[in-house]
Amino acid sequence: MYSDRVLSGMRPTGSLHLGHYHGVLKNWIRLQHEYECLFFVADWHALTTHYDNPLAIEDATRQMVIDWLAAGVDPAKSTLFIQSSVIEHAELHLLLSMMTPLGWLERVPTYKDQQEKLTEKDLSTYGFLGYPLLQSADILIYRANQVPVGEDQVPHIEFAREIARRFNHLYGKEPGYEEKAQAAVKKLGGKKAKLYGELRTRFQQEGDEEALESARAILAEAQNLSLGDRERLYGYLEGGGKMILTEPRALLTAASRMPGLDGQKMSKSYNNTIALREDAESVTRKIRTMPTDPARVRRTDPGDPDKCPVWQLHEVYSGDDVKGWVRQGCVSAGIGCIECKQPVIDAVLAELAPIQERARAYTEEPDTVRNIIADGCEKARDLARETMRDVREAMGLNHG
Ligand code: TRP
Ligand code: SF4
Repeated sequence: MYSDRVLSGMRPTGSLHLGHYHGVLKNWIRLQHEYECLFFVADWHALTTHYDNPLAIEDATRQMVIDWLAAGVDPAKSTLFIQSSVIEHAELHLLLSMMTPLGWLERVPTYKDQQEKLTEKDLSTYGFLGYPLLQSADILIYRANQVPVGEDQVPHIEFAREIARRFNHLYGKEPGYEEKAQAAVKKLGGKKAKLYGELRTRFQQEGDEEALESARAILAEAQNLSLGDRERLYGYLEGGGKMILTEPRALLTAASRMPGLDGQKMSKSYNNTIALREDAESVTRKIRTMPTDPARVRRTDPGDPDKCPVWQLHEVYSGDDVKGWVRQGCVSAGIGCIECKQPVIDAVLAELAPIQERARAYTEEPDTVRNIIADGCEKARDLARETMRDVREAMGLNHG
């Protein structure tokens, strides 16, 4: 009944680099052949931390869509849109905020982490606390069940699952459901009924999976329940009733970690990136001046590829023949580091050439990009409105 729908978003943080390409975009490009895909620019999410510089977000949004298209995200296959152009996300965020316990938000690990890390900003804001709830609205409004994200975002997807469950529990009931469930609880008998109630509360308020398991065990052992009551009480544990919002899952791919120029993960904050639209001269210079095995001071000193960031790039870009040549030549001081770097330079330039060609074409045709975004926003809006109709009805907000 429900087919797979993939949704993911990216904050517009400036021009994309090879880390985004290998870590995220290649995955999106693969997924768009297999699933219905929606990809969006999370510009409101960017505002939660960059509320003091909104104009930079506007420019970065356009540039990012160009980078996506240039990398090969295909607007004929995927729906590309901008979060702030589908204002229904904001309505769902507001409605979900009514039933979101503050403790759930405060407990999301990224909340305190980021607040401590980004000390130059005041992040004790309402918007920042609500970041994971806005993200939940992004996902739930499309009833997306697969969300490709990195490891760091998994707690946010778990959070969205719990919000969906709580929503369905609160607003998805058939008439009389609560009473019937309560009556069935009584049939468990005094002690067990009390324990079931406590475990259920623990699971629903704290997401305690162990409590859920224990409560299920009580039901499995209970002798005197009818089939209907048993089913009802299983459902009652997790929410039960009608499913209005779909519980999403994180779609983790084998992390293709893209090493940066210094061997750490490629990231703007480490200043070790190669941008997708970086010109050939700059790419060449950056790789030529990359650090190598620090023990290899002179050309005649042998080196150890395992201590060299250039080797990590060979692992990404080179075939077995080149890799064999590198290892052999390095440990025997048979090749120089500049020589060793050349195949990497060639491979990066070859990878970037078609991307940059497409980026140039899109940059020269701003109307094409505008139309792609407008089309995507319209499609997204239609889907979002469908969900909001059900949400409004469930919450008694259908006033015509
Ligand atoms: N928080 C995500 C990030 O920082 C971006 C994002 C916002 C997102 N909304 C989303 C990702 C919805 C997936 C689904 O990477
Ligand atoms: Fe690194 Fe290659 Fe130099 Fe060895 S030869 S240290 S692998 S750059």
